Amino acid sequence: MTILVTGATGMFGSRVARGLLDAGQPTRALVRGRCRAKELEAAGVQIVVGDMDRPETLPAALEGVRRVFLVSPMDARIDVRERAVTRAARATGVELIIKLYGAVKHRGDSLDALHLASISALRESGVQWALLSPNSVMETSLLSQAEAIKHTGAMWGSSGDGRVGLIAADDAAAAGVALLMGNPEPEHNYEVTGPEALTMAEVAQRMSAVLGRSVVYNDLPEDAFREMLVQQAGMTPEQAEIGVLAHFRAWRRGDADLVTNAVAELTGHPAISVEQWLRQHQTAYA
Ligand SMILES: NC(=O)c1ccc[n+]([C@@H]2O[C@H](COP(=O)([O-])OP(=O)(O)OC[C@H]3O[C@@H](n4cnc5c(N)ncnc54)[C@H](OP(=O)(O)O)[C@@H]3O)[C@@H](O)[C@H]2O)c1
Repeated sequence: MTILVTGATGMFGSRVARGLLDAGQPTRALVRGRCRAKELEAAGVQIVVGDMDRPETLPAALEGVRRVFLVSPMDARIDVRERAVTRAARATGVELIIKLYGAVKHRGDSLDALHLASISALRESGVQWALLSPNSVMETSLLSQAEAIKHTGAMWGSSGDGRVGLIAADDAAAAGVALLMGNPEPEHNYEVTGPEALTMAEVAQRMSAVLGRSVVYNDLPEDAFREMLVQQAGMTPEQAEIGVLAHFRAWRRGDADLVTNAVAELTGHPAISVEQWLRQHQTAYA
């Protein structure tokens, strides 16, 4: 049984592809360019070149594939790209799609609308599916602050006192591997999180303790944070909205405080804490 991993050079897809391979599972990676997938290829992942923006490339990528891990970049084309994969998967007889969604409740904002359109297509496809929904990921939420922390000893955001059940990308991916290799409940939303929900000020305290120097969290009004992302980080307003602000807004509302035991239930090992993750990534903040 071959499993196709989309987004295979990205944060989730690369980890899922390696996890499947480590479990002895024949694994195929959909990549836009073979040169980006040298490490996966060397590890034994079968590489197929294709593009979710070019649906005509997808049937060949899906030939002989029984299961698919469906993930695409966090941008305004989530629905178009993922619907194209779902359509092609249906046509080639795929039995199961595990789609990456999210555990943060976005309540119909633009990012959520894109994911919901993709989920609608799954529902209409007739292919069996389930969702893997990680809470916000430490790699995204904390590594993105590494430069600011190194140079200013501060993290920035607009989440107020909102709590977030941050999860390590490796734990989310391990849960994905378990779903792809197991018998997930059809149409179930598997929400995977870290072991506790923390405010960003509490995350800064944990950082200070692990890194052995002061790290503070500076909370900004959303407009000021948007300006910082656009003016200083060079994001377009759309990138800032979908990639950052929508998440901080949901955290601030209390819509990211979910903590579940799903990582342990699916993988047999507990999700790591922020402290454990920070110890693994100390060099990024040195
Ligand atoms: N970060 C979080 O905290 C979090 C939490 C929950 C859910 N999510 C969800 O995670 C998803 C993003 O996953 P990620 O962080 O793993 O993304 P990522 O690291 O940005 O990787 C995106 C992948 O998609 C590939 N790709 C881009 N355009 C493509 C195309 N046209 N055709 C085929 N492949 C293409 C990229 O390949 P190239 O190497 O060719 O660019 C890359 O492998 C979003 O749906 C987001 O909502 C994120």
